[in-house]
Amino acid sequence: MPITAIRGFNDILPAEALVWRRIEETAWRIFLTYGFSEIKLPVVEKTALFSRSIGEATDIVEKEMYTFSDRSNESLTLRPEGTASVVRAYIEHKLYVAPVTRLYYTGPMFRYERPQKGRYRQFYQMGAEVLGEESPMADAETISMLMSFFKAVGVIGARLNINSLGCSSCRPAYKDALRVFLKDRVSALCDNCQRRLEANPLRALDCKGVGCIEATADAPAIIESLCASCSTHFDGLKSSLNDAGVEYAVNPRMVRGLDYYTKTTFEITADTGLGSQNAVAAGGRYDGLVEELEGPKTPCFGFAVGVERLSLLLGKDVAVKTPINVFIALGHEPRSKGSELIRGLRDKGMVVIEEFSEGALKNRMKRADRLGASRVIILGEDELKEGVVTIKDMATAAQEKVRFEELADRLGAS
Ligand code: HAM
Repeated sequence: MPITAIRGFNDILPAEALVWRRIEETAWRIFLTYGFSEIKLPVVEKTALFSRSIGEATDIVEKEMYTFSDRSNESLTLRPEGTASVVRAYIEHKLYVAPVTRLYYTGPMFRYERPQKGRYRQFYQMGAEVLGEESPMADAETISMLMSFFKAVGVIGARLNINSLGCSSCRPAYKDALRVFLKDRVSALCDNCQRRLEANPLRALDCKGVGCIEATADAPAIIESLCASCSTHFDGLKSSLNDAGVEYAVNPRMVRGLDYYTKTTFEITADTGLGSQNAVAAGGRYDGLVEELEGPKTPCFGFAVGVERLSLLLGKDVAVKTPINVFIALGHEPRSKGSELIRGLRDKGMVVIEEFSEGALKNRMKRADRLGASRVIILGEDELKEGVVTIKDMATAAQEKVRFEELADRLGAS
């Protein structure tokens, strides 16, 4: 069977993985200063968790979940996102005894989508959730933290779009008004949006179909139907973002693909060259979800960053590569002294690869070069007697002899 026939998911090769490591380390360093703690969540959960939280009439639940039965016929799903699992863990472990809980997670998510650049069936998210805060200041602070992270990691031109989706007291009336509006234009909607008109008319605002975009161009905007509490929250969010110096645009058509949102929703886009796949992060408030999953009433806010998309934006030069030293021992005696020297260098955190092949030094130097050596350390019989090694700098071709006891300092300094 050819490898193309068994290839299904995306690999992250070492050069890109270095960029990812920098992304994750920067995020963690910043999120920690805002009081977030890490939570490690399972990759697989009971299917009902996702259908109940994300919503039955969403693309994710209708057609994108990897769902299977286990040996006891339990329906399980590879997680399509992390928020539902965070809420489950929050309830299960009674984390709500604390007044506010801030949780950070990272890992792979799975959605059966059409794969293309920036959209994968296994992709990674870094997510942060604040559970137990109802103030719009918490929304603004968390968004502001995310913008600081983007800046620290080197994203240029990130744009923040915000909206409010209302709550259970004002959204039903808006849904009715939208349904009435769409019914007059039903033939222009795609099959999917026609089918979901009753259960979830908001989806039509988000649909990328040309007919749906045209049909909804003059649709009523939800921010004009907000109740007093949602409207005050939205004003509070905007003024807190202004105070924090975070620029934003209000996008009344942004409805998001998950049903748990209430009040604030947001997306951050940047020019990834990916067209509609340009949201690098997204999130919002979900004040009803903990209760929906039978926990205590808890207002919540959070977001997730798409790591592949962020990495595409950054390019390879953001990662700092540790210099590679290749050690070549010429003969048996030099090899045993070499092992001791190598151990000493590794103890000091330096990268040393021993070149084990036998044969002419010229060929071994070529192999060292192909291994990506920035420096080659050579130890032959004569050098061993003198108590020195030869270091060759592969970029300049300069060579020097260095005493054993000075080797680590010499490599560390250059
Ligand atoms: P989401 O908008 O579905 O939200 O996903 C968040 C981010 O994950 C997207 O903006 C995108 O960068 C990335 N992403 C989503 N699908 C893919 C894919 N197929 N391939 C590559 N990247 C992808 C959520 O998942 C919510 N749980 C966010 C949240 C947290 N809301 C509140 N708390």
